[in-house]
Parts: sequence; C-alpha cells; structure tokens
Amino acid sequence: MSLPLNAGPRVLWLTGLSGAGKTTLSEALARGLRARGEAVAVLDGDALRRGLCADLGFSPEARAENIRRAAEVARLMADAGLRVIVALISPYRHERALARGLFRPGEFAEVHVHAPLAVVEARDPKGLYARARRGEIPQFTGIDAPYEAPEQPELRIDTADCTVDEAVDRMLVLCQPAAGAD
Ligand code: PPS
Ligand code: ADP
Ligand code: MG
Repeated sequence: MSLPLNAGPRVLWLTGLSGAGKTTLSEALARGLRARGEAVAVLDGDALRRGLCADLGFSPEARAENIRRAAEVARLMADAGLRVIVALISPYRHERALARGLFRPGEFAEVHVHAPLAVVEARDPKGLYARARRGEIPQFTGIDAPYEAPEQPELRIDTADCTVDEAVDRMLVLCQPAAGAD
C-alpha cells in the first residue's frame, strides 16, 4: 500500500556517530512500520557500501558522494510510495541539507541519533573505535574526522538515555497520519 499524503515524512534520515544506534533503530522502526502495513525500505551505510557505494572511501568528498547517492535513491523510493529510512553517519551539515533539498517541506525528517563519544566508544559493537584508536582506520568519525551535529533536527534521540522501544515509539509518532485525515 502506498503511503497516504498525510502520513508524516516519507524519508526519515538517521544521522549520528558509529555505534549511536542508527542500524538498531532503523531495523526496529522498519518492523514497527511494517506491522502497520506499510511498505518500508532501509538504506543503511554498511549495506550501501557493500554494493552501490563500494567504490567510495571515507574522505570528505567520498562521504559527500555517498550521501548524494543515498539521497537520490531515497527520492526514487519515496516517489514509488515507500517509507524510506536512511541510516548514514552523514557527518556534514551541508550534505544533509542537500539531501533535504531533494524533498518537499514535510517529506524529510532528520533524526539525530545521539550518544556521547564515551558511550559509543564503550559500546564499540564492531570493534572499530579500538581499531581507530590504534591508528588502523584513518579518518574515523569522532576520532580524527568531524561530526557536525544537526542544529534543528525534527527529532533528537539520546540512546544513552532511552530504550530501543522508547526511541522507536517517538519515531512512530512522527509517522502518524494527521488526526482527522483519511
Ligand atoms: S558516511 O560518513 O555517511 O559516508 O558513512 P556511512 O556510509 O554511514 O558508513 C559508515 C559505516 O562505515 C564503517 N566505517 C566507518 N565509519 C566512519 N568512519 C570511518 N573511517 C569508517 N570506516 C568504516 C562503519 O561500519 C560505519 O557504520 P556505522 O553503522 O555507523 O557503525
Ligand atoms: P550504528 O548503526 O549507529 O553504528 P548500531 O545500531 O550498529 O549503531 O549499534 C548500537 C549499539 O548500541 C547496539 O549494540 C545496540 O544494542 C546498543 N544500544 C543500546 N541502547 C540503545 C538504544 N536506546 N538505541 C539503539 N541502540 C542501543
Ligand atoms: Mg550501522
């Protein structure tokens, strides 16, 4: 079933440090939306970089191109009637603004998935921070590459301070059809 026009943002753009919870929350949110009968696509950085973006590294230019491709794919998927969840570090404000610019007002919501560096480094679910600290991964976000936090995200979720279910509930509210609409 195609998304009704009033069902909130077509694209939820989850941005945040590695280990902040983007993949965990995007998968849980997709399950919640599918349980409502929605058709949902998830564009996750790790998955994109295995295929569509396998030629890209982590320089500022490569990240910009990665974000551009993800945003264009999200645009196509949204036009096809899907709800789209994007889960990319997307560390630069400028590139996130370009992504937003592909959508009409209200179609795009930026969700800042936040946790302090000390927390994500302690989680280190893939062991990447430990490797970055040993100098094995250059240009690692938060260590020796920047992360520009959103200034006015539609939603900011502090994953050090809430459960996955609480975070998903907040995003589901954002995706609620407007009251009184059909
Ligand atoms: S970006 O900045 O938006 O282009 O990054 P993204 O496409 O989301 O890819 C992030 C995932 O790549 C892995 N990885 C790195 N992340 C950050 N910096 C460096 N140098 C790096 N090298 C590899 C890592 O698994 C990221 O996934 P998440 O889910 O964020 O941990
Ligand atoms: P990212 O995709 O941003 O790198 P991941 O989802 O891969 O992050 O990893 C986040 C880690 O933090 C997981 O191990 C997850 O279980 C844990 N975590 C703890 N609390 C939360 C929360 N409230 N929301 C999301 N993840 C959480
Ligand atoms: Mg991830």
